Amino acid sequence: MTPDLLEEGAKRLEKVRQAATEGKTESGGRAAGFSRVAQAGEVDVTHGRILYLEEVSVSFDGFKAINKLSLDIAPGELRCIIGPNGAGKTTMMDIITGKTRPDAGTVFFGSTIDLLRYTEPEIAQLGIGRKFQKPTVFEQLTVFENLELALKTDKGVKPSMFFKLDSSQGDRLGEVLHTIHLADSVGRLAGNLSHGQKQWLEIGMLLMQDPKLLLLDEPVAGMTDEETARTAELFLTLKGKHSLLVVEHDMSFIDTISDIVTVLCDGSVLAQGTLDQVQADERVIEVYLGR
Ligand SMILES: Nc1ncnc2c1ncn2[C@@H]1O[C@H](COP(=O)(O)OP(=O)(O)OP(=O)(O)O)[C@@H](O)[C@H]1O
Ligand SMILES: [Mg+2]
Repeated sequence: MTPDLLEEGAKRLEKVRQAATEGKTESGGRAAGFSRVAQAGEVDVTHGRILYLEEVSVSFDGFKAINKLSLDIAPGELRCIIGPNGAGKTTMMDIITGKTRPDAGTVFFGSTIDLLRYTEPEIAQLGIGRKFQKPTVFEQLTVFENLELALKTDKGVKPSMFFKLDSSQGDRLGEVLHTIHLADSVGRLAGNLSHGQKQWLEIGMLLMQDPKLLLLDEPVAGMTDEETARTAELFLTLKGKHSLLVVEHDMSFIDTISDIVTVLCDGSVLAQGTLDQVQADERVIEVYLGR
């Protein structure tokens, strides 16, 4: 690279770093969790649960968005959550990640971490990564730079164009690139990626932090059929290594990835079981799937 290009690259990087610390993204979307995820500690899963919600309720102006919701997720599980618009699916994620405080109930990460005692950035640091619907990657940076940036969480370190990944971070970046099917696009600007590739890149940024639990809200919305199929493949490879909570309306996607499906309605669990089981449930047909 010529000195000019280096200088230009350094300026670009500086600009997006500034935005990252201010919690902004170029696209105006919400800042992704990666800018505040640090090292995750150990989570006690000896009781067979990575996430545990009991009798959680929250009201907005008297309207019960979440109503005595109880839910258990096992370590390494890929749980799908479905339900009609307004059922409380996103609000449930807001509660788990500390964005919304419930009025009542218990929310535990493993058997010892009471999530209600932590702030949103702290919960991200504990190892809970969240993917919002809209991709929030840094469009003027390359795929590589986006993934690299996801590691640079130490605000005390002066940002440098020449931040050097150590060998385990380098290995991790290579692994993540492969997992998210972007190994061939490592030098491309994120802004030039397709919608699906941007979504994968953002998932990759979360993966750089090796989260224990990943929350994904409508991850295949707006994707082509081919991108959706690749995302299903990706989630199946993540299962077991991470626990995943996936909210989706796309039933064929759910069919491909799901073991247990939880149906939310009016802020609580209406039904739970395999997709076949919940699809055959009269109450689910009534409120969600239609006749
Ligand atoms: N901050 C808030 N203030 C007021 N009402 C809210 C707030 N957040 C959510 N709600 C309301 O709570 C209900 C549940 O909303 P939520 O977004 O969780 O539904 P959802 O299941 O994610 O729906 P969708 O499938 O459409 O995404 C809705 O009626 C919504 O309007
Ligand atoms: Mg929602």
